[in-house]
Amino acid sequence: MANGVIAVYGATGYTGTLVAHELRRRGLDCVLAGRDAGKLARLADSLGGDVPTHAVELEDRDGLRHLFGDCAVVVDCAGPFMRYGEPIVRAAIETGSHYVDTTGEQPWIDLLHRRWDDAARAAEVAVVPAAGFDYVPGDLIAHLAARGLEPLRELTIAYATRDVRPTRGTTRTALEQARDGGLVYDDGDWRPAPLRTPRARFRFPDPVGWQPVMRYPSGEVAMVPRHVRTRRLTTLMTVETLVGSAAAAPLVPLLIPAFTLALRTPLGSLLHAAVDRLPEGPSEQQRQAARFTVVAVAQGEDGRSRAGVVRGSDVYGLTAVTVVESAVRMLAPEFAGVGVHAPASAFDPASFLDALADAGISWELDPA
Ligand SMILES: NC(=O)c1ccc[n+]([C@@H]2O[C@H](COP(=O)([O-])OP(=O)(O)OC[C@H]3O[C@@H](n4cnc5c(N)ncnc54)[C@H](OP(=O)(O)O)[C@@H]3O)[C@@H](O)[C@H]2O)c1
Repeated sequence: MANGVIAVYGATGYTGTLVAHELRRRGLDCVLAGRDAGKLARLADSLGGDVPTHAVELEDRDGLRHLFGDCAVVVDCAGPFMRYGEPIVRAAIETGSHYVDTTGEQPWIDLLHRRWDDAARAAEVAVVPAAGFDYVPGDLIAHLAARGLEPLRELTIAYATRDVRPTRGTTRTALEQARDGGLVYDDGDWRPAPLRTPRARFRFPDPVGWQPVMRYPSGEVAMVPRHVRTRRLTTLMTVETLVGSAAAAPLVPLLIPAFTLALRTPLGSLLHAAVDRLPEGPSEQQRQAARFTVVAVAQGEDGRSRAGVVRGSDVYGLTAVTVVESAVRMLAPEFAGVGVHAPASAFDPASFLDALADAGISWELDPA
């Protein structure tokens, strides 16, 4: 590992740009990378002009190795990751650079664990996917809630958000993911997620309270059972998070399977074309208006249980903060992570959450 330089691939995107600003704010050495030299130059100008840029295509394996050979950490923001991720993680590992990304894609997290763990261990580098809003709060609070109670009978992670407006890149990625169905973790193993989405309710701490929720194949399914011993992991989101209104709850068991199947037909291509015409992402003001609550409930096989909660806003601003915080922790001389990790197994979960206080994040564990 050459020095303390952090490379950001996909720096020209909505999230990559926020990451570039966060690196700048923290005064960190970085190089802004992507496929488009013109966009990179404009981004560097907006940051004051003296930030190095490097244009290289994903298909240019030697070019990526040349770039990352001078960097200690690679931050990948170019998604969908199932489509664009592999050249970046390969080049990072080949050049002995730690890797961290902003993915929310469960299949990508699973693929990294299954395909790239051995290579990352051999190269003595850490690979930490999903270091953004997806799924830092959920992964860290689940680990903390479970601490001392393992083995668990069940671990539940539930999301309630309000007024979160997705970026075009997130919508594009979500459509690709929805088509594939995903995995659930049940009876100590990963299984294909059933198409059926049963109706359920979950009690969030006040002021959110009881909410209609649905199961969804979140990325934590691919991460958390690798660092918490549990028989089952249930991941839930409120119906309001998914469709914007809790009133749609009775329709969800019908709508979700129909939508998933429709994405596998030519209608899927039409929807993708429509996504290309969406605005790039929310304004700063819209981002600040967003609210989220993430709850983890750990139930031990011995009957003891504990809940944890994380609250905050601005999920895209938070993503920039958490990936940069991850990169900084990877630069620390005492960082010893090798192989593919969840945030909770790569970093100390409580100190990481504490470090997010300035980004408006609060967290607590119930004393029970
Ligand atoms: N986990 C979370 O909480 C979270 C938060 C934010 C984002 N994300 C994920 O991060 C990803 C990016 O989101 P976003 O909103 O920033 O999307 P975006 O604005 O569309 O940015 C996508 C980035 O990928 C680059 N890219 C696309 N196709 C490429 C290709 N063929 N070769 C090289 N680079 C390519 C784009 O480069 P150009 O500028 O040249 O097109 C751009 O820099 C998505 O998958 C999203 O779901 C997750």
